[in-house]
Amino acid sequence: MTERPYVLLSCASSIDGHIDDNTEERLLLSNDEDFDRVDEVRATCDAILVGANTIRRDNPRLLVRAQDRRQNRVTRGLPESPIKVTFTSSGDLDPEAKFFTAGDVEKIVYCPDAALDKCRDRLGGVATVVGVGEAVGLETVLADLASRGIRRLMVEGGGTVHTQFLTEGLADELQLVIAPFFVGDADAPRFVGPGSFPHHSGNRMTVAEVRQIGDVILARYLLRRPDEAGTDQ
Ligand SMILES: NC(=O)c1ccc[n+]([C@@H]2O[C@H](COP(=O)([O-])OP(=O)(O)OC[C@H]3O[C@@H](n4cnc5c(N)ncnc54)[C@H](OP(=O)(O)O)[C@@H]3O)[C@@H](O)[C@H]2O)c1
Repeated sequence: MTERPYVLLSCASSIDGHIDDNTEERLLLSNDEDFDRVDEVRATCDAILVGANTIRRDNPRLLVRAQDRRQNRVTRGLPESPIKVTFTSSGDLDPEAKFFTAGDVEKIVYCPDAALDKCRDRLGGVATVVGVGEAVGLETVLADLASRGIRRLMVEGGGTVHTQFLTEGLADELQLVIAPFFVGDADAPRFVGPGSFPHHSGNRMTVAEVRQIGDVILARYLLRRPDEAGTDQ
């Protein structure tokens, strides 16, 4: 793959690696100061990607909140907020979800060709629906986003999506926030599932920054692209 956006993964996790619990209510892992930091990072990106399950479960708006940041983007000739991107195999997405209704920005849904008719019927009025063959491959999605001018992509979960970007070596940066508590439920969603990760004990990520933000800790890691030589041993 020759061209793809810079891919930044953003996630908040409990100390025991969970990004949610199994209750109906959304689990608040971060704090207001950190939400504002995330807002600042969002404002620097061209697109934000989440998995379909995060849309179904959290119903996020995924917009830049601060007025001055939105204005700054407009002054630079950009839309107020980054475009929104998701992918689905089932096509089970509600056009009334805030992902689709909030913000005057383009929304893109990638799906396998088999789900194209269903997705277009449901979402054609609120999103650009793109069929990408037999299955949705991340490299195909990233190449398509690059062709649409996306240079910097923020991936905001959930775990299935993070796992794919990390195992496929398609992430450049990980911004991981650790909340000061445990979830303690083995069945609660995790930051990542099992997999073959290019970054293991023999190929460690680089710590770019560690910052305390109120009661949470932000760790920022840089990941090598698989074609980059060398190990940290
Ligand atoms: N703490 C945090 O920072 C944070 C952030 C975001 C989300 N979360 C939490 O994460 C949980 C959701 O995570 P999750 O792992 O269940 O789901 P997810 O990663 O949000 O979405 C998974 C879904 O995305 C679609 N998808 C993913 N990869 C695909 C591919 N290659 N091709 C086609 N479709 C693909 C599928 O949708 P279909 O099923 O429609 O086919 C799949 O079921 C929620 O509990 C949410 O609260 C936490």
